[in-house]
Order: sequence, then structure tokens, then C-alpha cells
Amino acid sequence: MLHLAGIESVILEQRSREYCEHRLRAGMLEHYTAELLSDVGLDERLKRQAFAHEGFELRFGGERHRIPMADLTGGCKAVMYAQTEIVKDAIAARVDTGDPLLFEVSDVRLDGVLTDRPAIRYRHDGRDHVLQCDLIAGCDGFHGVSRPSIPADVLTTYSRDYPFAWLGILADVEPSTFELLYGAHENGFALHSMRSSKVSRFYLQVRPDENLAEWSDNRVWEELQTRLVTDDAWTLAQGPITKKDVTPMRSFVTEPMQYGNLFLAGDAAHIVPPTAAKGLNLAVADVCLLADGLVTWYETGRRELLNAYSDVALKRVWRAQQFSRAMTSLLHHDPQDNMDARLQRAQLHELVTSEAAMTAFCQNYVGLPFAGRVHHSVRASPVR
Ligand code: DHB
Repeated sequence: MLHLAGIESVILEQRSREYCEHRLRAGMLEHYTAELLSDVGLDERLKRQAFAHEGFELRFGGERHRIPMADLTGGCKAVMYAQTEIVKDAIAARVDTGDPLLFEVSDVRLDGVLTDRPAIRYRHDGRDHVLQCDLIAGCDGFHGVSRPSIPADVLTTYSRDYPFAWLGILADVEPSTFELLYGAHENGFALHSMRSSKVSRFYLQVRPDENLAEWSDNRVWEELQTRLVTDDAWTLAQGPITKKDVTPMRSFVTEPMQYGNLFLAGDAAHIVPPTAAKGLNLAVADVCLLADGLVTWYETGRRELLNAYSDVALKRVWRAQQFSRAMTSLLHHDPQDNMDARLQRAQLHELVTSEAAMTAFCQNYVGLPFAGRVHHSVRASPVR
């Protein structure tokens, strides 16, 4: 977005290009995220490879219930396209522009973020460098240097850990469903998702300290079949499992998302539990808003949008936090709480029988419109 508006930027990345392009992450884009990628011209492969879904299925107690999200949200769809693929597309587009994108940068330190001329010190290619700039976008994830560069007494953090994690499974097998299947079962949550017509992605609720060695391929298939079972004898197709990983579940927000000329975006400022796949979508919404503020500032000298960045971004962040947590507790089994399963069943029944409840759920699931507006204008402007 900055490039399209003619604003110079330098991207510093700690990892290698190879690492970034193969890091396995979620694969569902909110309607407005997909629209933004299209507006900024990052959708060439997405258009060819992504599947747009108009609904999904909830399974519990042997029943299956289709949730027609597009019908309930004025046509909004969820777009299945892996985050890994977006990273590849974004890197390729950046490399094409010739603007700097440095990989394997180390020893990053931020200086003078309260001044008009902040600096980033870093090491690259065996040499020390200093980069002076107008502004720093801290898009460096939960473990990055940006958030810890802000004095602790300036920040308030909110966090919650969950008594479960997700075991993620990637398998070379045609999906046994056209739409996502979310299952709530007394053994725990299960999700059948997909990456292509030949690759399926699954998730199973497990303990946070789960030992992967205890999950043989056979056990994975049996457990998926058990948790997604229906009374009409649906069966899950099996194929070679190519990857297993464990994703921790956490809710985390830091406020504010700005300190002087340092602006935090994405996981640097907030983490959501993976249910509903809001993480990437929130990060895209953040940078869209930040780009809007930056472009307006450079074009008009007015800083109001930049100054409002944290407040505006946090409104959406908290909505997504609330929804991700609600959807997590709707579908996961908490072994510590014997009322939980009954309350959960009551809530699931409400969801599948009340159009009002289902509509509110779907509006959150497909995501809110973006507050930024720059992408609508950059579409028409020539790439420099
Ligand atoms: C995926 C992940 C999610 O958390 C979700 O809710 C839906 C899909 C995925 O990785 O495909």
C-alpha cells in the first residue's frame, strides 16, 4: 500500500525468505481481507487457487447443521487461501518493485521513537547498519523487538491462556467436504478444513503440553472420525499425513498500539485463539488502517488519522477477541468444568435454531468492513 502511494519503506525481516515462505499458518480470509488483497493487486494466484465458501457446518451430538453465512450477511464469503501463500505473493510483489526487503537481519534495536527521526540499528550481511526514518511499523510478531522497546509502564496488557491447544494435521487427501466442518464433541473440538482439492487440513483439541509422539497417524484419523461423527454414517477419507504441529491458544492484547513514532500491528500487539482464524485478518486490518494514516499524513501533513490509529484499531481488535473467545468456548471441551458441556449444548441449539443468533455469529465470522480507505484509491493509481 505504501509503494502504491509512492512512499518509501524498508522491510527488515529476521528470518530467511525460505523460512517465511514455508511457515504453516491458518488459511481462511475474511471477506474484506480478500477484497483488500484484490484492491492492491495481490490476488493473481488467489483468484486462481482460492475457494470461496458460502457456508460452513457445525456438528454436535451426531447432528449436522449448515450455517448459510453468505445468505445471512448480504453475500459475504470466507475465502480459503493459506497465509503461507499470501506471504509468497507479498514477497514476490515486493521484490518486483525493487524496494528494499532484507532477510536474515539480526540485532535489531529501535532508537529515538519519541523523536521525529527514529532510527533502527541492525546487523545484515556481517555489517552493522543504522536506518533513519520518519516512522516505524512494528509488524514483527509476538516475539519481536517492537513491543519490548516500549517502556513497560506505558503499556497495559491483557491476557488469558486456555487449558487446551490445537494439534494441526496436513494430509495429502481430497477433502471429505466442500465446506468447513466444525465439530463439538465430548472428546473435544475438531475442524476439517482444506488447502486445495488434494490437500486437507485438520485440527484437534489437545492438551497444551501434548506430546506429538502419542499421536500416531491411526489415532489422528480415528479421533477425527469420532469427533466429526454424524448419524447418517458420514466417513472421512484418509491419506498420507505430511505434517503435524501443535498451536498454543492464547488471548493477548496490549494497549496502546502506538508509542511516539512506533506503531504496532498484528501479533506484535495482539494474539487471538485460532478458532475463526482471525489472526492474519486482524493484522491486515491494522496495516490497512496504518497505511491510511501514513498516506494521509504524507499527502496533507495532517496527523489526525495516525494519531487515532491505536483507538480505531483496538475497537476491531476487541471485537475479534470477544468473538474468537466465544467461538472457542462454544466448541471446545473444558474437562475442569462439568456445567460447561451442558451450557455449550444450549448455546449451540440457540445458534442453529435462531436466525437472529446465527446472523450475529456470521457477521463476526465473515469479519467487519475495514476502517481504512486508502486501498480504494490506490487501485486506480499507476504502480511506480
Ligand atoms: C482454518 C483455521 C481456523 O482457525 C479456522 O477457524 C478455519 C480454518 C485453516 O487453517 O484452514
